[in-house]
Order: sequence, then C-alpha cells, then structure tokens
Amino acid sequence: MGKKIFSGVQPTGNLHLGNYLGAIKNFVDLNNDDKNECVFCVVDLHAITVKQNPQVLRDNIRETVATFVACGINPEKSIIFNQSSVPAHSEGAWLLSCVARMGWLNRMTQFKEKAGKDKEKASIGLYSYPILMASDILLYDTTHVPVGEDQKQHLELCRDIAQKFNNEYGVEDFFKIPEPLIQKYFSRIMSLKDGTKKMSKSDLSDLSRVNLTDDKDQIINKIKKAKTDPLPLPSSIDELKERPEAKNLIEIYSSLNNLSLENSVNEFKGKNFSDFKDKLSQILVEKINPISLEIKKLINDKGFLDKILLEGQKKADNIASKKIKKMQEIIGF
Ligand code: AMP
Ligand code: TRP
Repeated sequence: MGKKIFSGVQPTGNLHLGNYLGAIKNFVDLNNDDKNECVFCVVDLHAITVKQNPQVLRDNIRETVATFVACGINPEKSIIFNQSSVPAHSEGAWLLSCVARMGWLNRMTQFKEKAGKDKEKASIGLYSYPILMASDILLYDTTHVPVGEDQKQHLELCRDIAQKFNNEYGVEDFFKIPEPLIQKYFSRIMSLKDGTKKMSKSDLSDLSRVNLTDDKDQIINKIKKAKTDPLPLPSSIDELKERPEAKNLIEIYSSLNNLSLENSVNEFKGKNFSDFKDKLSQILVEKINPISLEIKKLINDKGFLDKILLEGQKKADNIASKKIKKMQEIIGF
C-alpha cells in the first residue's frame, strides 16, 4: 500500500550534505514511488523561533524550494509549499498545545541544546516548536515521516499528542499515528571539523560542512581540510568506534555510493587518508555539483519557484483546512 508522507525543512540557509543524506535524498526516493502521496513543507514558522532577517528569510524560502527541486523532487507529483501560507498549521498547533503536557516538552533535548544555558531568554516558540511540528504532520493524516536521527524524539512526542487527542475526545483513529522513517545507517552526518558534533547549518565554520551550493573547488578544499587522525584507515567496522572522524567520512562515502559500511571499509583498509579523500571528493563532486548548479539556476527564476509554492499552497490548504474543521467540531466549537 502507498504511504502518506510529510516532512519539513527549515528555510534557514546553508542546506548541507547532512540535510541531503539524512533527509532530502530519502524524500526523492519516496517521491519517485507512484504509490506514495508526498507533502514536503518549507517550515518558515519553525524558522522564526530564532530571529530572522525578513529579506534573508524570503530568499531562503525560495532557496529551499529550489533545493528540493534540484535534488529531484517533482512538484507535479509531490506537494511543495511553505507552512505560513496554510493557516491551519498555526491553528492546529494551538489546539494541540492544549493537549500536549509540559512534562513531555521538558524532555526535548533539542530545546535544551538550542536554548543553551540561559533558558529564560529562549523564545516560547522555540519551546513549543515540537507541537507545531505535530500539527504539520497530523493535519495530513500522515503515515510516515522521513527525517534525520535528530528528529526522532519530536516524532515520539507527535505520536503521544495524537494518541492523547484521540483518547481524550473519544475519537479513535481520528489522528493517524505516524511512523518515523529514519534510515538505519548514515542518518546522522557529523561535522567535517569534529566527528562528535552534528553537521549543522549554524556552525560558524563553513569548513565544517559541505553546502549543497558549494562548487567543485570548495568541495575538494573542504575534504582536503577535513579532520582525520594519524592512523591508516581501519580494517574493520569495530575499529571505527573510537575514530569518529574516520567513521563519518567513510559513512559519507558509503551513503553517496549506496555501499554498505563493510564494503567501504574493505575497499580502503590499511590505506592512508589522502588516497581515500581523493575518492571521497570525486564522488561528492559527482553527486553534489549537479545539484549545486541546478540550485543556482533555479534561484534566479523566482516566478517558477513562486508558482510551485502557490500551487502547493492550494493543495495543502485544501487538505489541512478540512482536518482543522473536523478538529473544531470534535473540540466543541
Ligand atoms: P533542518 O535543517 O533542521 O530543518 O533539518 C532538515 C532535515 O535534515 C531533518 O530531517 C533533519 O533531521 C535532517 N538533518 C539535519 N542535519 C542533519 C545531519 N547532520 N545528519 C543527518 N540528517 C540531518
Ligand atoms: N523540526 C524539523 C527539523 O528541524 C523540521 C520539521 C518541521 C518537520 N515540521 C516537520 C520534519 C514535520 C518532519 C515533519 O528538522
């Protein structure tokens, strides 16, 4: 049977290899299966949980759409839209926030990381962020949510909220309980500068990530400068445990080549990093450069990107506004 897919990406610039391998590559495969119905959302309401510059935000929304299309999502087949253009997402978040419990939100590790030491200064939006995410997912009767490892806890919360709403109002099956689709391997790509830190848009060092808009020379340079360790490449997966940088680079290589980790380890065992890095740069350039060129081309075609968003908005609004109406009735409005 086909799946109902929903996922979101924040328009906060610097989409990188982690976003691609952890999430967007999976979106493309799901989009290519005719049995699935897919919705891919540019989650601009989530982006403003931290301060944004309005003009930069506008550009980043279009750039995210351009990235989806450049990576291979077909807007004729999948719904692509931005969250703020469908009011049901905000309204659903409020309704669900009256079901979600403080104790559940207090456990969210992403909030703790993002808020840092001074939690009093974090926005309320940053705290209630996972409720908005639950609204996104539940409005579309989503069955499966493709995301990177870091979103697993938010999805568990979404499932709890859906179950509580169904139970509290005695409407079994009103909200479908969504399943996460997290790749078994390579679902957490690490920084090129520190194999214990997640590759992230917000890392101050651009050398820590391969951006999907990087050109050939930038990619080669970043891999050349990527942190390694003094030993030759290991001969078993076991030996990678204590070597986070080597593990991350080999995982990136495996994922891009659709190889198992074991195969990649065998290919390079005992070799030095410079041989391996040559091969890694080669495959990265082969896979990322066409995406980068396409993003740069599409970004200049604002009319095309805005048309995708408008078409997507109509379709998404049609689904989500109906679900909100039913929620209102169930609640007693
Ligand atoms: P974000 O950019 O935070 O909106 O994330 C968009 C998608 O990319 C989510 O599904 C994340 O789980 C995924 N993602 C972000 N960073 C990484 C990473 N370093 N490794 C794997 N997946 C990631
Ligand atoms: N919170 C997700 C992230 O930062 C983005 C997101 C928002 C999302 N709404 C979603 C992902 C719904 C999946 C489904 O990566």
